[in-house]
Amino acid sequence: MEVAKTIEELKQAVQKLRSEGHRIGLVPTMGFLHEGHLRLVDRCKEVSDKTILTIFVNPTQFGPNEDLDAYPRDEERDLKLCEERGVDLVFCPNVEDMYGASHSTFVIEERASKGLCGISRPIHFRGVLTICCKLFMLSRCDVAVFGQKDAQQVILIEKMVRELNLPVEIVRGEIIRESDGLAMSSRNRYLTESERKIAPCLQEALQIGKALIEGGQTETAKIRSEMAHHIEKHPEIRIDYLELVDVQELTPLSVVRPGEVLIAGAIYIGKTRLIDNVNV
Ligand code: PAF
Repeated sequence: MEVAKTIEELKQAVQKLRSEGHRIGLVPTMGFLHEGHLRLVDRCKEVSDKTILTIFVNPTQFGPNEDLDAYPRDEERDLKLCEERGVDLVFCPNVEDMYGASHSTFVIEERASKGLCGISRPIHFRGVLTICCKLFMLSRCDVAVFGQKDAQQVILIEKMVRELNLPVEIVRGEIIRESDGLAMSSRNRYLTESERKIAPCLQEALQIGKALIEGGQTETAKIRSEMAHHIEKHPEIRIDYLELVDVQELTPLSVVRPGEVLIAGAIYIGKTRLIDNVNV
């Protein structure tokens, strides 16, 4: 496994891969890898013949009061996991290399990025789209794999690729869960023992919403209130949002039908913000 620490090293490695005619797959991550990321690597290997994984805690997607400094990092362990899983090339640049001091160019989506996570994290998707665009260009990947857990993120990336005509295919990797249903996330490690115990209630609430829709309920307000009621049994949890939106454009729906709904939620348990979603 090769490791590129600078843009220059990455460019050279990518040049070699392309001259050998490989189909390049990309798995962008912020490191502190867990099984969810490694399953994206497995998926990437199915759809490409060389896998590049990037590890970069991207500062432009964190708001001023968010967890950029606290975000967990363990590069040595990440590299070992990548090697074991069959990654071909890891790119782990530093901030100065990715964003020069005068950096002022961003990719901004003007509509679907405004709702859901965009309300409490107004600059987040600008940072995500910008870094993904840069990583697509630098890796010259044919295909890139993103987890469905960050549903709004992957929808916005697909939209960026479509609308800016970027020559990359986007593949979605399924949500990987712990045995009690909690979606895997690097942020789960912030949870205390008692917080961890109640964390699956977000997934449970989403399942309640799904069952209601499949049972014929069409009124969003009723579905949302049942889901909120389940979470509110735990006074230590604060709901950021619980929304039923259109699966393409993320517009809020007042009446829902199976086959076209994304139910997405975000909660705070203590200081930790968790997200999850389900397609119905
Ligand atoms: O999902 C993530 O970990 C990040 O948002 C991503 C896609 C690696 C961009 O920094």
